[in-house]
Amino acid sequence: MSFLIVACSLNPESRSLALARQAEKFFLSADADVDFMNLRENPLPFCDGDSVYAKQEVVSAAERVQKADGILVSVPIYNYDANAAAKNLIELSGKGWEDKVVGFLCAAGGHSSYMSIMSLANSLMLDFRCIVLPRFVYVTGESFEEKNLTDPEIEKRIQELTTQLIKVTLALKTI
Ligand SMILES: Cc1cc2nc3c(=O)[nH]c(=O)nc-3n(C[C@H](O)[C@H](O)[C@H](O)COP(=O)(O)O)c2cc1C
Repeated sequence: MSFLIVACSLNPESRSLALARQAEKFFLSADADVDFMNLRENPLPFCDGDSVYAKQEVVSAAERVQKADGILVSVPIYNYDANAAAKNLIELSGKGWEDKVVGFLCAAGGHSSYMSIMSLANSLMLDFRCIVLPRFVYVTGESFEEKNLTDPEIEKRIQELTTQLIKVTLALKTI
C-alpha cells in the first residue's frame, strides 16, 4: 500500500508545505510507504489537453499519482478554491486518480474560506470516483510563526487525518 503527498503551493514561504511535511512525519512514523511531490520543485506545464501529456515531467508525475493507493493533497486556498497548480496536476494526471482515497490539508488566509475545498473534492468524487475523506484540516496564519507550524492542535488534526487515510485505504484494499 503506498501513499502520495502532494504539496501544491508554488510559494517559497508556503504554509501548506509545512502541513504536508508534518503529515509526512506521521506517515513515516506509521511505517507507511510515502512519496512526496512538491509542485514547486517539480514544475509542470499548463494542461493543454494535447501535447503536454507526452512531456517527461508530466508522465513522471502521472506515474506517481497512479502508483499511490491514497493521496493527501496539501493546498493553498486561492480565490475561494484550491490553487491553480493543484487543479493543473489533476488535469494532467486525470485517470491516475480513479478510485483513490483522497484527503485534504488546506492553508488559507482567513476562516471564511472554510468550504472552498468542496469544488475540488466534488470534481474528484464525480469525475474519478475518489473516496474523499470527510475529515480535512483547514489552517490559517494564526497557527504559524512565519512558515513554521506552531499549533499542537493542528498537529493532532494532521495526525488524525493521516491515520484515517491509512485506515480507509487499507480497508478498501483488503475488501
Ligand atoms: C492569489 C491569492 C488568493 C487568495 N485567496 C484566498 C481566499 O480566497 N481565501 C483565503 O482564506 N485566503 C486566500 N489567500 C491567502 C492564502 O490562502 C494563504 O496565504 C495561504 O497561506 C496560501 O498557502 P501557501 O502558504 O501554502 O502558499 C489567497 C492568497 C493569494 C496569493
